[in-house]
Amino acid sequence: MTDANATLVDDLAAIVGASHVLTDASAIEPYLIDCRDRFHGRARAIVRPATTAEVAKVVRACAHARVPIVPQGGNTSMCGGATPDATGEAIVLSLVRMKAVRATDAANKTMTVEAGITLHDAQQAAQEAGMFFPLSLASEGTCTIGGNLSTNAGGTAVLRYGNARELVLGIEVVLADGRVLDALRGLRKDNSGYDLKQLFIGSEGTLGIVTAAVLKLFAAPHTRVTALAAVESVDDAVALLRAMQQAAGDRLTGFELLSGVALSLSHRHHPELPDPLPGHPWYALLQIDDTQAHAALTELVETALSRAVEDGIVVDATIAQSQEQARKLWALRENVSEAQRREGPNIKHDISLPISAIATFCRDTARAIDDAFAGARLVVFGHLGDGNLHYNVAAPEGVPAREFMQRADAVNRVVHDRVAAAGGSISAEHGIGQLKRDELAHYRDPLDLELMRRIKSALDPQHLLNPGKVV
Ligand code: MLT
Ligand code: ZN
Repeated sequence: MTDANATLVDDLAAIVGASHVLTDASAIEPYLIDCRDRFHGRARAIVRPATTAEVAKVVRACAHARVPIVPQGGNTSMCGGATPDATGEAIVLSLVRMKAVRATDAANKTMTVEAGITLHDAQQAAQEAGMFFPLSLASEGTCTIGGNLSTNAGGTAVLRYGNARELVLGIEVVLADGRVLDALRGLRKDNSGYDLKQLFIGSEGTLGIVTAAVLKLFAAPHTRVTALAAVESVDDAVALLRAMQQAAGDRLTGFELLSGVALSLSHRHHPELPDPLPGHPWYALLQIDDTQAHAALTELVETALSRAVEDGIVVDATIAQSQEQARKLWALRENVSEAQRREGPNIKHDISLPISAIATFCRDTARAIDDAFAGARLVVFGHLGDGNLHYNVAAPEGVPAREFMQRADAVNRVVHDRVAAAGGSISAEHGIGQLKRDELAHYRDPLDLELMRRIKSALDPQHLLNPGKVV
């Protein structure tokens, strides 16, 4: 360790306590590798402050020493957004000790939490307060609210409740110079100037470090119906989405699409889960919730699905008869990503399109992938109700996954060119991180990029916050 680094480490230890500045190689390793094992970084130290005041002091010390900072929550980024680069210049600032629920306000339906609380614990805290926090994603046991906000996370209930951006009323942010922006307001209407919080939400820690947030809570649902429908095509899945929206209105909380390949993969890795409608090319998993305890939801879903069968949209369907059955159907869906990870690396795309363009996109892109990469296997699933697909491309049978990964740029071009042509986005909910930085530069309008870079320079003039990410 150089003298300057030793001095910084001593300064940071004086702020957060020596036991919360990790420098030992084996202790820091888990913070330096992303959850998909795509990025391996290096860092001077992992620093784990316990309060906003400590975060502010750490940032001030780093700004003074011109040392980059990589903020990190549960380290579940799909895009290497929380992994430092290989230079070893940065510190990783882990927020995981900041887990407090600072306040709940039942009348205002809000809850103020710190950034390091896991999404699951935030959901629990809302429930214990007799309310409901709807953000829901596969990694909710590990991912943190700070990370959810920094990436504007989506998940499986966006259709009804919106992305993280729409679930936040106020935030507290430590700025690049160590000052604290206290915007922890719980207001549903506030037109007093620019909505600064929205600058930081979705900025992936490149503009400031989110340390706390006022979350919007809702009345808890009391009746829930979950159903799986087998359909012949993506066109039919889109038609079913419309039919269910017509039948259930905004009680339709989630509408997920799974290809037969994705469902089989999940089942292969979780044979204990049911496979109630085997052998179909596509599936829709849908959930409808009502705040009324005895709403006639099951009848509503049965009627809508029967009509869809009569209309030739749905081939077969099953409705979960218990919470446990519903949980298992959701587990089949939520395990797809993990099942794919166990099969080895694959080329992931997190795209969004106008829902009206999705079926044509799927047809054209499947053909183009097959023409260019014969035998490549598509694992398509995602949040059809939000127009968001995980359009993943895995190696052909017999080709080592790591070898196929060398072709990622060419595969990305085929997929993302079609996304752009259909007016879509190359990142719907996972963010840009370091994985898609070049893709962002390729596809976003130069004026968009210029404005992003100007905002970055205005808020972080030394470019010390999460360098190498987003812009
Ligand atoms: C999901 O929808 O399961 C997540 O976004 C994870 C993934 O895409 O791999
Ligand atoms: Zn997703």
